[in-house]
Amino acid sequence: MSQDVVARIRAAIEDHGPISFAEFMEHALYGPGGFYERPPVGAEGHFVTSPHVHPMFGELMARELRSMWGALGRPEPFTVVEVGTVDGTLARQLLEHLGDLSVDYVAVERSPGARDRLAELPVRVVAELEADIDGGALLANELLDNLPFHRIRRSAQGTMEVRVGLRGERLVEVEVPSDPALAELSPTLELGEEAAVSVEALRFVDALSDRLRKGYALLIDYGRVDGPGGEVHGYRGQRVVADVLADPGSADITAGVDFSALARRASERGLQVFGPLTQRESLVALGFEGWIRNELARQGELLRSGAGRQAVRVWEGRNRATLLTDAAGLGRLLWTTLATPGLPLPRGEP
Ligand SMILES: C[S@@+](CC[C@H](N)C(=O)[O-])C[C@H]1O[C@@H](n2cnc3c(N)ncnc32)[C@H](O)[C@@H]1O
Repeated sequence: MSQDVVARIRAAIEDHGPISFAEFMEHALYGPGGFYERPPVGAEGHFVTSPHVHPMFGELMARELRSMWGALGRPEPFTVVEVGTVDGTLARQLLEHLGDLSVDYVAVERSPGARDRLAELPVRVVAELEADIDGGALLANELLDNLPFHRIRRSAQGTMEVRVGLRGERLVEVEVPSDPALAELSPTLELGEEAAVSVEALRFVDALSDRLRKGYALLIDYGRVDGPGGEVHGYRGQRVVADVLADPGSADITAGVDFSALARRASERGLQVFGPLTQRESLVALGFEGWIRNELARQGELLRSGAGRQAVRVWEGRNRATLLTDAAGLGRLLWTTLATPGLPLPRGEP
């Protein structure tokens, strides 16, 4: 399957010279035979995201959504638009915990394979953001880091763009002087440092600011507020892949998101920006500690009533849930909330 992807990348390079990293990602992730053609997320897939680690993630996020719903004047229906829904794991959790509200859940998913999987859920499935949100919330968990980005590197020759070219049969990095417009979007770099510059993520903020008439957008991703952030890397079979040019289509490709650039663009577009807070801070604010105490009490009751096996399962679940707030792992994801003017900071209902 990834042979087709390689053939398309080679053809593109032969046609117009070394291609931008964004064009390379477009083929490797989203083209025919690309990594996202079938949903790759989950324990059986190539990597896991927060809702796949424990359903407590959706339970606490539902409190945040309920708080947004209250701040919006309790609209009926309450529109929830999730972009990058993959197999609907988060959608299921949220719908379960918002069951008493009339929710119009819209799943925006680019991957045809993922859209097929979503057909069984009580959600409207679309391929792109196509309607205004007037009294609702948009969510995107680990979407922005996967949007095709350019790579900028500071070298002794100046600010360079890292493109993808061919050396014999192999795909290789090729440095060319950066277009000044692209370099301007990059954070300041020290010699040898590199940044992922995501024009697509900025376009996403533009599109969402056009569509959001009244409401919130909650964007969650790995990333940075200052500085160049993490290196480009991939995931295959639950392992980190360093060489993202080898075997394109077989691994995810990602890099930390520039939250400062997103915040600037959102403010320019007239949106309020709250945060970012870390996922750890966000889940604690939404009642993580109370949730853990309840599970501990449930475990104790099960033990006292002789249901030892069930008690062990609760203990295992509690341990797993704590991964979501681990400061060295998922807990360092960043949550930022955008809102149309006049709306208050949502506080959840812990
Ligand atoms: C890492 S996954 C998202 C993880 C998921 N939100 C979760 O919580 O498990 C990225 C998903 O975003 C989808 N995607 C990428 N670009 C998109 C776009 N412009 N619109 C909608 N979906 C997109 C991909 O097809 C892929 O399924």
